[in-house]
Amino acid sequence: MINKEDIARMLGEIRELQCKSAKEVEEARVRLLGRKGVITALFEEFRSVAPEVKRELGRPLNELKQAAQARIEELKAGLGEESAAGPREDLTMPGDNFELGSRHPVSIVRQEIVDIFRKFGYDVAEGPEVEDDYHVFEALNFPPNHPARDMQDTFFVSTGHPNPLLLRTHTSSVQVRAMESMKLPIRVICPGRVFRNEAISARAHCIFHQVEGLYVDENVTFADLKQAILLFAREMFGPETQIRMRPSYFPFTEPSAEVDVSCNICHGKGCNICKGTGWLEILGCGMVDPNVLEASGIDSRKYSGFAFGMGLERIAMLKWRVNDLRHYFENDMRFLQEFAAAPEV
Ligand code: PHE
Repeated sequence: MINKEDIARMLGEIRELQCKSAKEVEEARVRLLGRKGVITALFEEFRSVAPEVKRELGRPLNELKQAAQARIEELKAGLGEESAAGPREDLTMPGDNFELGSRHPVSIVRQEIVDIFRKFGYDVAEGPEVEDDYHVFEALNFPPNHPARDMQDTFFVSTGHPNPLLLRTHTSSVQVRAMESMKLPIRVICPGRVFRNEAISARAHCIFHQVEGLYVDENVTFADLKQAILLFAREMFGPETQIRMRPSYFPFTEPSAEVDVSCNICHGKGCNICKGTGWLEILGCGMVDPNVLEASGIDSRKYSGFAFGMGLERIAMLKWRVNDLRHYFENDMRFLQEFAAAPEV
């Protein structure tokens, strides 16, 4: 027989109801509120009790039903995550780490070179990538239509103008700007991106990076140049490194040289990186041609200087034995992540 005590006891039980899984919640719902559930049965019975009992039990019975519905909803919500995605979160677990990016190998090498020359007292100078013919060629002793211009195939931005705009083919243009604007003596290095109209292959690209350097003062000699390059090479490639200079030609330097460093992979024995010669070519250099000094308003009888320039991709290739220049520009994560362990500079 339906009575007040049973309803009160059931209410207590429902409030305490616990379930371990979504399946148990559903079972509890069916047991209490399903078509054949105990609460449903109480309502059936309620229909036929005497009016005074109805008055007494109507309200507690409704409360019981509402409490059961609310508790079932509560349990469902509490177990919702679990039923969708397995066990609940372990709040004591350590958080996820952010994955750090890594420096691009060209940036690492540039920073290393800049740091070395800063130690030697050089300042860093930068200039525009879209330059004019004057700063890239004319002021560097490339007369108009001089065949030496063919050494560097140029991307022109505007033509048909006496001083056309173009993408700089070397950062020597920044050295010209330094000579025009800085007080003597000048010691600058010019890191930057340069552009040449070349077919893209494993060994050449139409975009690459250089660091060029310039030192102009009284009595600067070729011996100073040689010493600066030797000190740089030893800082960069290790204290045992030897250099050798081979005569070369650049319109803006006289005399000019290409510099090789001793192969730090085979130590002169000959390997496939140095192609069996024991030497690796790393830069071009020379004494600044007096015409170049004069073009920027520097008295070439009083002052002399040296300049040098190197390609960063090439140095990075030697450092990490990368065999294809194109890797530097494709930004393939698998390639870039290899440098995550490189020193943070
Ligand atoms: N500007 C030359 C180049 O781009 C490099 C260089 C710089 C050579 C200074 C000599 C002196 O190849």
